[in-house]
Amino acid sequence: MTQLHLWLRHEPRTTERRTPVVPADARRLTESGVTLTVEESPQRIFPIEEYEAAGCRRAPAGSWVTAPRDAVILGLKELPDEPAELTHRHIFFGHAYKRQPGAAELLGRFTAGGGALLDLEYLVDDEGRRLAAFGFWAGYLGAALAVLRHRGRLAAPLTPTAKDDLDAVLRPRAGDADFTALVIGALGRSGRGAWTAFRTAGVEATRWDLAETRDLDRRALLGHDVLVNAVLATSPVPPFLREEDLDDAARRLRTVCDVTCDVGSPFNVLPVYDRTTDWTEPARRLREEPPLDLIAIDNLPSLLPRESSTDFSAALLPQLLAFGPGGAWGRCLDRFHQACRELGVAEGEGSS
Ligand SMILES: NC(=O)c1ccc[n+]([C@@H]2O[C@H](COP(=O)([O-])OP(=O)(O)OC[C@H]3O[C@@H](n4cnc5c(N)ncnc54)[C@H](O)[C@@H]3O)[C@@H](O)[C@H]2O)c1
Repeated sequence: MTQLHLWLRHEPRTTERRTPVVPADARRLTESGVTLTVEESPQRIFPIEEYEAAGCRRAPAGSWVTAPRDAVILGLKELPDEPAELTHRHIFFGHAYKRQPGAAELLGRFTAGGGALLDLEYLVDDEGRRLAAFGFWAGYLGAALAVLRHRGRLAAPLTPTAKDDLDAVLRPRAGDADFTALVIGALGRSGRGAWTAFRTAGVEATRWDLAETRDLDRRALLGHDVLVNAVLATSPVPPFLREEDLDDAARRLRTVCDVTCDVGSPFNVLPVYDRTTDWTEPARRLREEPPLDLIAIDNLPSLLPRESSTDFSAALLPQLLAFGPGGAWGRCLDRFHQACRELGVAEGEGSS
């Protein structure tokens, strides 16, 4: 079998400080015989020198375009718009299999160049469970921001931080009023993260998952002060909140954080807003009387780049060590071909 050459690329998005492989795991890869090239990246949370010390080769930012054809390019988020034809196999979150804007263009670039997308969202075990995900930290941050907003301590703009510093502002202070919180999707990764952050904040949150929402008690939902939605909806369900619930004078609910952020999707369980919030404007007031604030940020784990990268990398490492044509990576490649067929993106002879 030919030796694996992984190429860890720079992330073009300037706020993205995370990485899918941290230096300690890079060392495990190089010691196992994997060639690992790491691009220089000014904002990556781990300096390039730590990768060099772990036996990695160093390359300029963006030089993956001229990497050997058999190198597998590894990243997290979107590629730059050029080159128009992608000749390599790329591992990252493509967000291109649910007919998102730009999906056909991205897949078309792969098929034009004979490359392939191995989408991290579809890296699953043989029962379909995700093998590497950022959910826990998304939920942790979602609940943390909701608590800070509710207590009047959410400073904007948000900037990447470290867990110890976040926890220091999250812990309850003398004089803080008690409040109740509800996490929906509580048994999932994000839900567990949200519940954990509430605990740090001194709040024992109510936990609902599928069993508790089957026959939704909206009065009980509206009776909580803070709501964190962390469900992964795969089919349409009745919404948890409707416009008329926001106008309900008896509503106790004051702060909502939608970790799921399915805005615009037919599966959206919170169809009461039409655009996400962001680091500059993390919270938006949906109602004045009684007040209701929304937080709906779609890149929450980037706010804790070190912790979220370290956990993600630990989950991805065994998969990278087992990189090959079958198993989880084979399923990923099959899913890419299926998505190309669904979007009518023609694949040429050279597609791997
Ligand atoms: N905002 C962000 O930055 C960010 C980051 C990562 C993930 N996410 C999103 O967060 C969501 C959750 O991700 P995850 O990794 O925790 O998923 P997960 O699969 O680990 O957990 C989802 C949970 O939701 C529950 N659920 C599904 N439908 C439900 C319903 N109708 N009622 C109650 N519970 C229901 C499931 O049973 C499961 O326990 C996803 O939509 C994901 O895309 C957002």
